[in-house]
Amino acid sequence: MTTTTKAVGAPLARIEGPEKVSGRARYAAEYPVDGVAHGWIVPSPVPRGRLTAVVADPTGDTMAVLWHGNAPSLAAVDDPELAVLQSDRISYRGQPIALVVADTLEAARRAAQVLHLEIEAEEHETVLRADHPGVYEPETVNPGYPAATVHGDVETALATADVTVDVTYSTPALHNNPMEPHATIARWDGDDLTLYDSNQHPSGVAATVGEIFGVDRVHVITEHVGGGFGSKGTARPNAVLAALAARVTGRPVKVVLPRQAMFSMVGHRTPTLQRVRLAAGRDGTLSGIDHQAYSQTSRLYEFAEQTAVVTRHMYAAPHRRTGHHLLRLDMPTPRWMRAPGEAPGMLALECAIDELAEKLGMDPIELRIRNEPSAEPESGVAFTSRHYVECLRRGAERFGWSGRDPRPARRREGDWWIGTGVAGATYPTMAQPSTARVRALPDGTFEVAIGATDLGTGARTILVQIAADALDVAPERVRIRIGDSTLPRASVAGGSSGSASWGWAVTGACRSLRDTGRDEVTFDSTELVQRQETEGRHAYGAHFAEVRVDAVTGEVRVSRLFGMYAAGRILNARTARGQFLGGMIMGMGMALHEEGVLDPAMGEWVNHDLAGYHVPVHADVESIEAAWLDETDDRINPMGSKGIGEIGIVGSPAAIVNAVWHATGIRIRDLPVRLDKIL
Ligand code: MOS
Repeated sequence: MTTTTKAVGAPLARIEGPEKVSGRARYAAEYPVDGVAHGWIVPSPVPRGRLTAVVADPTGDTMAVLWHGNAPSLAAVDDPELAVLQSDRISYRGQPIALVVADTLEAARRAAQVLHLEIEAEEHETVLRADHPGVYEPETVNPGYPAATVHGDVETALATADVTVDVTYSTPALHNNPMEPHATIARWDGDDLTLYDSNQHPSGVAATVGEIFGVDRVHVITEHVGGGFGSKGTARPNAVLAALAARVTGRPVKVVLPRQAMFSMVGHRTPTLQRVRLAAGRDGTLSGIDHQAYSQTSRLYEFAEQTAVVTRHMYAAPHRRTGHHLLRLDMPTPRWMRAPGEAPGMLALECAIDELAEKLGMDPIELRIRNEPSAEPESGVAFTSRHYVECLRRGAERFGWSGRDPRPARRREGDWWIGTGVAGATYPTMAQPSTARVRALPDGTFEVAIGATDLGTGARTILVQIAADALDVAPERVRIRIGDSTLPRASVAGGSSGSASWGWAVTGACRSLRDTGRDEVTFDSTELVQRQETEGRHAYGAHFAEVRVDAVTGEVRVSRLFGMYAAGRILNARTARGQFLGGMIMGMGMALHEEGVLDPAMGEWVNHDLAGYHVPVHADVESIEAAWLDETDDRINPMGSKGIGEIGIVGSPAAIVNAVWHATGIRIRDLPVRLDKIL
């Protein structure tokens, strides 16, 4: 059976674009709900202790002040952070410890500000250190990999190598700041609960909240989402608090996180300390690789980021070791943030490779190509496709790499030192079971329904393109319905797996309808997805950066950033480019701007707003471009597509850090690269 490709790949504009730019698109907090009351979250002012009493101003204009002393009890679920207002324990500063509900937002906030909290504070610890006696090795890291791997004898390889590198890189806490903060409006009708909620997985949120409240019918509406980056992958405390308050007050309740709460309540990227050791021969052939990663978790929950896992997949070497080490702190639980694991892991690996190239006096692209594996380096299984070397070579041509003097601090124009850097990129190619339904309507159009979400990435649009081709009709004849938990069950918009997972189900439903002539088909992809063979499935890329560094002030500017990708079939050239560039710009933020600055005495990130927590702005982005190889991989899914949502942030920070070295001769191993570290 063949499908003629017409719509897939075309640079279609987002179909909901006009709704968004005209302000008609509704985000969770914007739904007009009759009689809605407002909840204001009271965050804990201490990082550790017990809340013993909450006393409200009796003249306050509130409907309820909820805390563990009066909140109804909730069923426990896997995520202890959703047991809000259930215990006197305070596990981190910023933890929701009370909720004030009032007729207006202003009244709720005012009452919250004058609440009297009785707290027994306790000693706390908030600083990640590799030599802390509490550091331990978890059994597994996300989402279930072994925490440690050993192949051969890396110590002997290091002891006998011609050239070695032994470096430690550190990355700070990074904070998810989608434009739309987390928000929920909850309304009960008897035992039926409706949530207008901003999330990446409506059916997952519905199931979790239903379990917490012991009800079956939870309807989650998530029509538009203003970004998530992983922080909206599961139900967050705002959804539970809104439902709880609505239950208690008998009114619909809206809970919107203020920007400041985004820094404590939705999960940040853990800080990391990473030691990478490389052993190589004079010709650059790696004999040993060791990558040990230290990161933090909380008292509530073990979140073990898979920082060193990426090193298991990148380069050939007979002797190798990876490991993960965790420390529990009185801090919020780290969570997912775009390419959790790969983004910080590739920073350390790809900067260490650059340091090896320097020691060998070798071109860093040639060094990478020298160590290209023919199969998965640890397991030996075949890759479905791997065009990493082509990304490096073709990217180098496009960027203009040839003729580069490998020595640092050689190019100066006026006060500016100029340098270039390169780093690899990779991200696993995943798919999860989903179900889609298609109906042929009397007017000649087709309605495709799947409980997916569009985080602003263009998911709606590519699903229309996929459906159109599978039905053999023009995309104008396809209507798409997503963003609702009552639609056929879809997997999370995460792990760069949305389009592959949902597209697989949509393709199955649409082809079946086309081939059988029926007027309605529901297709569940579970069997097909689970039947996949064990093969290495990854997308690849290469990032190139040109920076200039002011010799007087140390200011770093990224004058050019370029990504060349091999990520399977590109489903929509316009939205894919946006995904790649967005990831690269976030990579620029990781390299140069973003840092949660911790005050250990208060157990708090002091820069908890967008005034103090810097992200790249338009003026920071000069020339940025993404391109891709014409790769199709028919071993992965019917579209031949790999995920593209995260790969742009993998390796792009290393390319910038390596370029800063090339410009100045200074290795900054502690991110972000700031001018005070250069001077
Ligand atoms: Mo992404 S961190 O998998 O939503």
